[in-house]
Amino acid sequence: MHYSDSFSRITQVMKSSLIRELVASTKNIPDLISFAGGFPSPATFPYQQLASLFEEVVKNEGSDVLQYGASEGDILLKEQLMKWEGYELKPEEMVITVGATNAIYYYTRCLINPGDVILCEAPSFLGTLVTFDALEADCQSIAMDEEGIIMDELKDKVRTLRQQGKNIKFLYIIPDFHNPAGITYSLKRRKDIIQYCIDNEIPILEDNPYSRLRFYGESVPTFYRVAKTEFHPTDIVTEVVSFSKILGPGLRIAYAKGDKELIEKMVSWQQKVTITPDCVAERVVARFLEKGLMEAHLKNICEYYRPYLQKMLDELEKHMPSSVHWTKPEGGIFLWLTLPENINADELFIEASKHKVSFIPGSKFYPEGQERFNTLRLNFTYSTFEQIEKGVCSLAELLKAKL
Ligand SMILES: Cc1ncc(COP(=O)(O)O)c(C=O)c1O
Repeated sequence: MHYSDSFSRITQVMKSSLIRELVASTKNIPDLISFAGGFPSPATFPYQQLASLFEEVVKNEGSDVLQYGASEGDILLKEQLMKWEGYELKPEEMVITVGATNAIYYYTRCLINPGDVILCEAPSFLGTLVTFDALEADCQSIAMDEEGIIMDELKDKVRTLRQQGKNIKFLYIIPDFHNPAGITYSLKRRKDIIQYCIDNEIPILEDNPYSRLRFYGESVPTFYRVAKTEFHPTDIVTEVVSFSKILGPGLRIAYAKGDKELIEKMVSWQQKVTITPDCVAERVVARFLEKGLMEAHLKNICEYYRPYLQKMLDELEKHMPSSVHWTKPEGGIFLWLTLPENINADELFIEASKHKVSFIPGSKFYPEGQERFNTLRLNFTYSTFEQIEKGVCSLAELLKAKL
């Protein structure tokens, strides 16, 4: 049977996440120092607490949580999430999903017809770009500075696209400790974007897996919170929050908050695709929050990661040539390097692999045809201090040789 002959049109042309392929391509290199992946450190997983909660939940609430659950998500978890975030929401304004990935898929599925435009950041998270692509959206990227997407570029892009008769469906934003760019939107930029999007009727999809991983400085309210508190009442923002980088990506728990009518349609997609998220995992997260374990846990993660970020920043400062620039985030798990224009990070990736260092070339984080080749992403949460020291030094040597 030749299944490939029977694949649907979109399946035949669908792209996979190149990051997984790139990471896999270096898997068999012994002693490789990898700054490539986007994994949280297993040292931050709350093993003991989760082990006790899984046992407790299955023993005491098994007849409920081993059964099929509600497609909109566990009501007990929703109640705890609202308390945690301090919102008075109706349960219908929230859906629990299997990771942020599914929430983003449902949101996009609800809004996009083939050829509709999604505005995204340049660069943006590849995992989401391939989802947009699989749903046949036309992704148009907007350049960023250290405060977020540049307002004039946003306005120009919207004007041009609308003049071309394009249907702009939404703007996709990663607000804090951006993956891959490492930046955090300033409060002013958040407000300017919200005002502009209200005036121009462009919904915002806010993908927020990292805001609670803040090691330094003051947190900035999410787009969702700013829209709710300062532009009220508006439901222009749908915020997706994931527990992947907080409790562990294997749990696959995330949630989305937004307009009731839109959430209802997202639930309807979830019903068709997966029926319900993992009910045991949902209840475990609910009990984790109910027992008040989250605050101390987040503090532990931030304390654990802070020296790794600092180490990478120190090593970059020590070794990199002056023509290389990088973001200096106050949290998250990534840094973004900008190299001189004539250096191609795709080529550097191949050379670096031979020197047993790995990263993700920046070109992978742009929609096709809109790439920049002199950028790269470094992860600092999956290596030891020694590896950071050695890896950054090797990378700097390679760059110096090219300059
Ligand atoms: C910006 C962004 N969005 C979404 C995801 C996927 O999250 P989840 O594991 O909740 O599906 C990631 C994971 O790295 C991410 O960085």
